[in-house]
Amino acid sequence: MPKILDGVAIAAAIKQEVAEEVQSLAARGVRPGLAAVLVGSVPASQIYVRNKVQTCADLGLYSDLITLPDSASTAELLELVAVLNARDEIDGILVQLPLPARVDARAVLDAISPAKDVDGLHPVNAGHLQAGRPALAPCTPAGVIEILKRSGIAIAGSRAVVVGRSDIVGKPVAMLLLQQNATVTICHSQTRDLAGITRQADILVAAIGRPGFITPEMVSPGATLIDVGINRLSTREEFDRYFAGDAKREAAFAKRGSVLVGDIHPKAFAVSGAYTPVPGGVGPLTIAMLMSNTVRAAKLRRNLTAAQ
Ligand code: GUN
Repeated sequence: MPKILDGVAIAAAIKQEVAEEVQSLAARGVRPGLAAVLVGSVPASQIYVRNKVQTCADLGLYSDLITLPDSASTAELLELVAVLNARDEIDGILVQLPLPARVDARAVLDAISPAKDVDGLHPVNAGHLQAGRPALAPCTPAGVIEILKRSGIAIAGSRAVVVGRSDIVGKPVAMLLLQQNATVTICHSQTRDLAGITRQADILVAAIGRPGFITPEMVSPGATLIDVGINRLSTREEFDRYFAGDAKREAAFAKRGSVLVGDIHPKAFAVSGAYTPVPGGVGPLTIAMLMSNTVRAAKLRRNLTAAQ
């Protein structure tokens, strides 16, 4: 039986550690603070941002939620980022993505001070990561490493295959795995013989954004599967393609009219040695690592190291 890597439990452990660190910083008069910027009214983004702000409150961090209408311009956002860069009680700035198509998202993200870039998306931090220097790393990729480490899965010397090359997940997770001494291959839409490569993986990370893309024949028996995808299935036909015969999911589908599936086909999990489920795998780590990055940014900005 494959081992299920419980992201909820791992995220809870990290949040507990962050809460303890926040308490010890409070004794020294420091309260880490996060500014979350939400533009427009995309329902999923509203939920994500609300969760981030709520988690700050739960762990004792200061937070400031700034909402702007859909009509906000690039110039307005740049002005807001400049204000947040200058505010001393703000250690981390998170601009929720996606931004409206009209807005120059790259310009906005690049305007965030690298020291406050808790999403790890600024080119300076991406460069530090690439150079193998300590940096604020993107939250979901950092969460993947935490899951592997805390589950006792050996990274050093392993063959890791990352499917997907996005700036937010694929590339940074590949860099972090390399930093941990894995032998890393990045695959993408133009990769030839994809299955031949994924079958070599001891650790297979799927971050493609296509439901059930990784099928059982693409997986080496016993491999660790990390599923970063979150795809919603809302038609009967789609449901049956992935979950036919799954009574628990059938009930969820009947109740809500949709279910989630990752980028890895559920049948592939049976072949694996360990896997992250969807939901409840990688997802919960993203907020936990955001909190951890915010505390880290607060300490770095004040030259406080763990030893002090
Ligand atoms: N939207 C979906 N995931 C993320 C993330 O990790 N960071 C930000 N800023 N927006 C997102």
